[in-house]
Amino acid sequence: MSINTDFPPNENIVWHPHSVTRQDREALHKQQGAVLWFTGLSGSGKSTLAGALERVLHQRCISTYLLDGDNMRRGLCRDLSFSNDDRRENIRRVGEVSRLLVDAGLIVLTACISPYRAERQMVRDMLPPGCFIEVFVDTPLAICEARDSKGLYKKARAGKLPNFTGIDAIYEAPQQPDLHLNGEQLVTDLICRLLVLLSERVLIST
Ligand code: ADX
Repeated sequence: MSINTDFPPNENIVWHPHSVTRQDREALHKQQGAVLWFTGLSGSGKSTLAGALERVLHQRCISTYLLDGDNMRRGLCRDLSFSNDDRRENIRRVGEVSRLLVDAGLIVLTACISPYRAERQMVRDMLPPGCFIEVFVDTPLAICEARDSKGLYKKARAGKLPNFTGIDAIYEAPQQPDLHLNGEQLVTDLICRLLVLLSERVLIST
Protein backbone atom coordinates (compact mmCIF):
# COMPACT_ATOMS: atom_id res chain seq x y z
CA MET A 1 0.00 0.00 0.00
CA SER A 2 1.33 3.45 -0.83
CA ILE A 3 1.38 6.45 1.46
CA ASN A 4 -1.88 8.40 1.59
CA THR A 5 -1.23 11.71 -0.11
CA ASP A 6 -4.72 13.14 0.40
CA PHE A 7 -3.71 15.08 3.46
CA PRO A 8 -0.65 17.17 4.26
CA PRO A 9 2.06 14.77 5.42
CA ASN A 10 2.97 14.95 9.09
CA GLU A 11 6.76 14.97 9.35
CA ASN A 12 6.53 13.21 12.72
CA ILE A 13 4.62 10.26 11.32
CA VAL A 14 6.60 8.03 9.02
CA TRP A 15 5.05 5.31 6.87
CA HIS A 16 6.26 1.91 8.05
CA PRO A 17 6.48 -0.60 5.20
CA HIS A 18 5.77 -4.17 6.29
CA SER A 19 7.09 -7.28 4.68
CA VAL A 20 3.79 -9.02 3.84
CA THR A 21 2.39 -7.15 0.85
CA ARG A 22 -0.96 -6.86 -0.82
CA GLN A 23 0.40 -9.11 -3.58
CA ASP A 24 1.31 -11.75 -0.98
CA ARG A 25 -2.20 -11.64 0.45
CA GLU A 26 -3.77 -11.73 -2.99
CA ALA A 27 -1.70 -14.77 -3.86
CA LEU A 28 -2.95 -16.46 -0.69
CA HIS A 29 -6.56 -15.68 -1.58
CA LYS A 30 -5.97 -16.50 -5.27
CA GLN A 31 -7.73 -13.29 -6.29
CA GLN A 32 -7.14 -9.58 -6.70
CA GLY A 33 -8.47 -6.93 -4.35
CA ALA A 34 -10.88 -4.29 -5.65
CA VAL A 35 -13.82 -2.16 -4.56
CA LEU A 36 -17.23 -2.23 -6.17
CA TRP A 37 -18.60 1.14 -5.10
CA PHE A 38 -22.39 1.17 -5.38
CA THR A 39 -23.82 4.69 -5.44
CA GLY A 40 -27.41 5.87 -5.77
CA LEU A 41 -30.36 7.29 -3.89
CA SER A 42 -31.71 5.80 -0.69
CA GLY A 43 -33.99 2.97 -1.77
CA SER A 44 -32.33 2.62 -5.18
CA GLY A 45 -31.32 -0.98 -4.42
CA LYS A 46 -27.62 -0.59 -3.62
CA SER A 47 -27.65 -2.75 -0.50
CA THR A 48 -29.89 -5.38 -2.05
CA LEU A 49 -27.66 -5.68 -5.09
CA ALA A 50 -24.40 -5.60 -3.15
CA GLY A 51 -25.74 -8.28 -0.79
CA ALA A 52 -26.96 -10.50 -3.61
CA LEU A 53 -23.66 -10.14 -5.47
CA GLU A 54 -21.67 -10.89 -2.32
CA ARG A 55 -23.66 -14.11 -1.88
CA VAL A 56 -22.85 -15.20 -5.44
CA LEU A 57 -19.15 -14.35 -5.04
CA HIS A 58 -19.02 -16.14 -1.69
CA GLN A 59 -20.48 -19.24 -3.31
CA ARG A 60 -17.63 -19.03 -5.82
CA CYS A 61 -15.11 -19.06 -2.93
CA ILE A 62 -14.18 -15.41 -3.42
CA SER A 63 -13.27 -13.53 -0.24
CA THR A 64 -15.44 -10.44 0.11
CA TYR A 65 -16.58 -7.82 2.55
CA LEU A 66 -19.66 -5.62 2.32
CA LEU A 67 -19.56 -2.12 3.83
CA ASP A 68 -23.17 -0.99 4.06
CA GLY A 69 -23.79 2.72 4.67
CA ASP A 70 -26.55 2.20 7.21
CA ASN A 71 -24.46 -0.35 9.11
CA MET A 72 -21.32 1.80 9.05
CA ARG A 73 -23.35 4.63 10.50
CA ARG A 74 -24.19 2.44 13.50
CA GLY A 75 -20.50 1.94 14.31
CA LEU A 76 -17.44 3.58 12.79
CA CYS A 77 -19.48 6.53 11.53
CA ARG A 78 -22.01 6.77 14.34
CA ASP A 79 -20.84 10.27 15.28
CA LEU A 80 -21.65 11.66 11.83
CA SER A 81 -24.80 13.47 10.72
CA PHE A 82 -26.10 14.04 7.20
CA SER A 83 -24.63 17.55 6.86
CA ASN A 84 -22.45 18.08 3.77
CA ASP A 85 -19.25 17.95 5.83
CA ASP A 86 -20.27 14.83 7.72
CA ARG A 87 -21.27 13.01 4.55
CA ARG A 88 -17.83 13.83 3.15
CA GLU A 89 -16.20 12.47 6.30
CA ASN A 90 -18.46 9.41 6.11
CA ILE A 91 -17.24 8.66 2.58
CA ARG A 92 -13.63 9.35 3.51
CA ARG A 93 -13.86 6.79 6.33
CA VAL A 94 -15.63 4.18 4.22
CA GLY A 95 -13.03 4.85 1.52
CA GLU A 96 -10.16 4.35 3.96
CA VAL A 97 -11.64 1.10 5.27
CA SER A 98 -12.14 -0.04 1.68
CA ARG A 99 -8.51 0.73 0.98
CA LEU A 100 -7.38 -1.41 3.90
CA LEU A 101 -9.61 -4.28 2.82
CA VAL A 102 -8.32 -4.08 -0.75
CA ASP A 103 -4.83 -4.19 0.72
CA ALA A 104 -5.97 -7.34 2.54
CA GLY A 105 -6.76 -8.80 -0.89
CA LEU A 106 -10.54 -8.74 -0.66
CA ILE A 107 -13.28 -7.84 -3.10
CA VAL A 108 -15.03 -5.04 -1.23
CA LEU A 109 -18.60 -4.03 -1.92
CA THR A 110 -19.76 -0.67 -0.58
CA ALA A 111 -23.34 0.56 -0.49
CA CYS A 112 -23.39 4.25 0.42
CA ILE A 113 -25.42 7.01 -1.19
CA SER A 114 -22.10 8.88 -1.59
CA PRO A 115 -23.89 11.86 -3.14
CA TYR A 116 -20.87 13.93 -4.20
CA ARG A 117 -18.73 13.32 -7.27
CA ALA A 118 -15.67 14.84 -5.62
CA GLU A 119 -15.73 12.36 -2.73
CA ARG A 120 -16.23 9.38 -5.02
CA GLN A 121 -13.27 10.63 -7.04
CA MET A 122 -11.29 11.03 -3.81
CA VAL A 123 -11.86 7.36 -3.00
CA ARG A 124 -10.91 6.36 -6.55
CA ASP A 125 -7.69 8.34 -6.16
CA MET A 126 -6.80 6.82 -2.80
CA LEU A 127 -6.93 3.28 -4.21
CA PRO A 128 -4.39 1.55 -6.45
CA PRO A 129 -5.10 2.18 -10.16
CA GLY A 130 -8.00 0.15 -11.52
CA CYS A 131 -9.19 -0.97 -8.08
CA PHE A 132 -12.17 1.38 -7.80
CA ILE A 133 -15.20 0.29 -9.77
CA GLU A 134 -18.08 2.74 -9.62
CA VAL A 135 -21.52 1.17 -10.02
CA PHE A 136 -24.37 3.64 -10.44
CA VAL A 137 -27.67 2.16 -9.30
CA ASP A 138 -29.89 4.49 -11.25
CA THR A 139 -33.42 4.34 -9.87
CA PRO A 140 -35.76 7.31 -10.36
CA LEU A 141 -36.59 9.23 -7.20
CA ALA A 142 -40.30 8.47 -7.67
CA ILE A 143 -39.58 4.73 -7.58
CA CYS A 144 -37.31 5.00 -4.52
CA GLU A 145 -39.98 7.05 -2.82
CA ALA A 146 -42.72 4.57 -3.71
CA ARG A 147 -40.60 1.73 -2.29
CA ASP A 148 -39.80 3.70 0.89
CA SER A 149 -38.90 0.49 2.73
CA LYS A 150 -37.72 2.40 5.82
CA GLY A 151 -40.44 5.06 5.79
CA LEU A 152 -37.78 7.77 5.55
CA TYR A 153 -39.10 9.50 2.41
CA LYS A 154 -42.43 9.91 4.14
CA LYS A 155 -40.69 11.51 7.11
CA ALA A 156 -38.62 13.72 4.82
CA ARG A 157 -41.71 14.90 2.90
CA ALA A 158 -43.36 15.68 6.23
CA GLY A 159 -40.38 17.87 7.12
CA LYS A 160 -39.29 15.54 9.92
CA LEU A 161 -36.00 14.48 8.31
CA PRO A 162 -33.99 17.43 7.00
CA ASN A 163 -31.18 17.06 4.42
CA PHE A 164 -32.70 13.97 2.91
CA THR A 165 -31.01 13.02 -0.35
CA GLY A 166 -33.24 13.65 -3.35
CA ILE A 167 -35.69 15.75 -1.34
CA ASP A 168 -33.75 18.67 0.11
CA ALA A 169 -30.17 17.43 -0.30
CA ILE A 170 -28.44 16.92 -3.63
CA TYR A 171 -27.33 13.75 -5.36
CA GLU A 172 -24.71 14.17 -8.08
CA ALA A 173 -25.17 11.28 -10.49
CA PRO A 174 -21.96 9.75 -11.87
CA GLN A 175 -21.09 11.05 -15.34
CA GLN A 176 -18.94 8.10 -16.36
CA PRO A 177 -19.60 5.20 -14.00
CA ASP A 178 -17.83 1.93 -14.67
CA LEU A 179 -21.28 0.36 -14.74
CA HIS A 180 -24.64 2.09 -15.11
CA LEU A 181 -27.51 -0.07 -13.87
CA ASN A 182 -31.21 0.57 -14.25
CA GLY A 183 -32.40 -0.07 -10.70
CA GLU A 184 -35.89 -0.96 -11.91
CA GLN A 185 -34.64 -4.14 -13.58
CA LEU A 186 -34.65 -7.56 -11.97
CA VAL A 187 -31.91 -8.17 -9.41
CA THR A 188 -30.96 -11.42 -11.15
CA ASP A 189 -30.38 -9.54 -14.45
CA LEU A 190 -28.36 -6.85 -12.72
CA ILE A 191 -26.23 -9.46 -10.97
CA CYS A 192 -25.44 -10.96 -14.40
CA ARG A 193 -24.23 -7.54 -15.60
CA LEU A 194 -22.06 -7.19 -12.49
CA LEU A 195 -20.55 -10.64 -13.01
CA VAL A 196 -19.75 -9.79 -16.64
CA LEU A 197 -18.01 -6.62 -15.50
CA LEU A 198 -15.99 -8.48 -12.85
CA SER A 199 -15.00 -11.03 -15.44
CA GLU A 200 -13.97 -8.32 -17.95
CA ARG A 201 -11.81 -6.75 -15.24
CA VAL A 202 -10.27 -10.18 -14.62
CA LEU A 203 -11.41 -10.11 -11.00
CA ILE A 204 -13.29 -13.40 -11.37
CA SER A 205 -12.99 -16.21 -13.87
CA THR A 206 -15.97 -17.08 -16.03
S1 ADX B 1 -24.15 9.15 2.66
O1 ADX B 1 -24.91 10.23 1.99
O2 ADX B 1 -23.36 9.66 3.77
O3 ADX B 1 -23.37 8.35 1.69
P1 ADX B 1 -25.13 6.70 3.77
O4 ADX B 1 -25.16 5.77 2.61
O5 ADX B 1 -23.98 6.58 4.72
O6 ADX B 1 -25.28 8.21 3.24
O7 ADX B 1 -26.45 6.50 4.62
C1 ADX B 1 -27.66 6.57 3.95
C2 ADX B 1 -28.76 5.85 4.72
O8 ADX B 1 -29.05 6.55 5.92
C3 ADX B 1 -30.02 5.84 3.89
O9 ADX B 1 -30.15 4.61 3.20
C4 ADX B 1 -31.11 6.01 4.89
O10 ADX B 1 -31.55 4.74 5.33
C5 ADX B 1 -30.45 6.68 6.08
N1 ADX B 1 -30.70 8.13 6.22
C6 ADX B 1 -31.05 8.73 7.38
N2 ADX B 1 -31.12 10.06 7.22
C7 ADX B 1 -30.81 10.32 5.92
C8 ADX B 1 -30.73 11.51 5.14
N3 ADX B 1 -30.95 12.72 5.68
N4 ADX B 1 -30.38 11.42 3.84
C9 ADX B 1 -30.16 10.21 3.30
N5 ADX B 1 -30.24 9.04 3.97
C10 ADX B 1 -30.56 9.08 5.28
